[in-house]
Amino acid sequence: MSSAARPVTVTVTGAAGQIAYGLLFRIASGAMLGADTPVRLRLLEIPAAVGSLEGVAMELEDGAFPLLSSIDISDDPWVGFDGANVALLVGARPRTAGMERGDLLAANGPIFTDQGAAINASAAADVKVLVVGNPANTNAFIAMSNAPDVPAERFTALTRLDHNRAIAQLAKKTGVAGTDFRRVAIWGNHSATQYPDISHVTVAGRPAVEVINDQNWVVNDFIPTVQQRGTAIIKARGASSAASAASAAIDHIRDWARGSAAGDWVSMAVPSDGSYGVPEGLISSFPVTCANGEYSIVQGLDVDEFSRGRIDISVAELEGERDAVIDLGFAKRV
Ligand code: NAD
Ligand code: LMR
Repeated sequence: MSSAARPVTVTVTGAAGQIAYGLLFRIASGAMLGADTPVRLRLLEIPAAVGSLEGVAMELEDGAFPLLSSIDISDDPWVGFDGANVALLVGARPRTAGMERGDLLAANGPIFTDQGAAINASAAADVKVLVVGNPANTNAFIAMSNAPDVPAERFTALTRLDHNRAIAQLAKKTGVAGTDFRRVAIWGNHSATQYPDISHVTVAGRPAVEVINDQNWVVNDFIPTVQQRGTAIIKARGASSAASAASAAIDHIRDWARGSAAGDWVSMAVPSDGSYGVPEGLISSFPVTCANGEYSIVQGLDVDEFSRGRIDISVAELEGERDAVIDLGFAKRV
């Protein structure tokens, strides 16, 4: 693409928050859409955070990024998603003391209902949506359900952070570089029930289960460490992961838009097409490959009894969340 290429419009919600602070400068630098693609940022916040967002926009200007063609700020989703080719839904209502998961679903329902409707009305025809704000899979399900004119497969949620965390743990255990691991898969929900699956992983061409040869470590260390990593970071930092989440969001959109590495998989939470017994329409994480701006769920994998049980636990949690938001009136069954 030449420098005269038309800018891609990228909308980011929660743009004054912690994750956005790690995300916006990398988008502006070309890390997400490529060094030949100019971007137009549309930044969305709640009214109380618009002042702080103006400061972030000043910093973006001061970066003098050659690819950053304009910055618009809004507190109105109907304005913020106008013409969006990529929509990163980062802003969400956080869990506060005493809140149950059901309360969190209820608090986020109106946000993602409105944003889904606004995307439906005003985003570009080719919009790609990534939901980062938790509970990410179910927030994406709500947005998808409120955007009937946008193809359902454009609504995705972030489990690439879990995928990257799994690779990091495997690299630490074996002493082999993370880049040598292929075919890691995260299944299910971005929650403590997720299933990080190494049964198909190869390391430098050999089955990882043979190289590791320690099923006790896989079951009692690796899986719980990846499942609980978000909580461990909150405990250590006093705030949830931000730079690593931003980096994973960049990876997710970069691979979706520009293709994943040949011979490898990435993990994305996407509307199920019924593959692997996951009910159709549920936004669940799968191993996928990406090419030509589209992702495909990896087909034909053997799922052993252990993996089946773990996938079923996480899918059951997602079904419970889906039913709760349908009962609350935020989504319809799809
Ligand atoms: P943060 O509190 O620093 O920022 C969130 C921002 O969203 C705030 O500035 C807030 O004003 C804004 N916001 C809230 N409601 C909004 C709305 N309706 N429209 C626009 N903006 C809105 O939080 P953060 O650290 O940036 O995290 C954001 C979300 O990402 C949280 O829900 C967090 O749990 C989630 N998260 C997800 C993953 C993942 O892998 N899926 C990883 C880490 C964090
Ligand atoms: C993470 O995985 O780091 C976050 O989703 C944790 C959280 O609850 O914000």
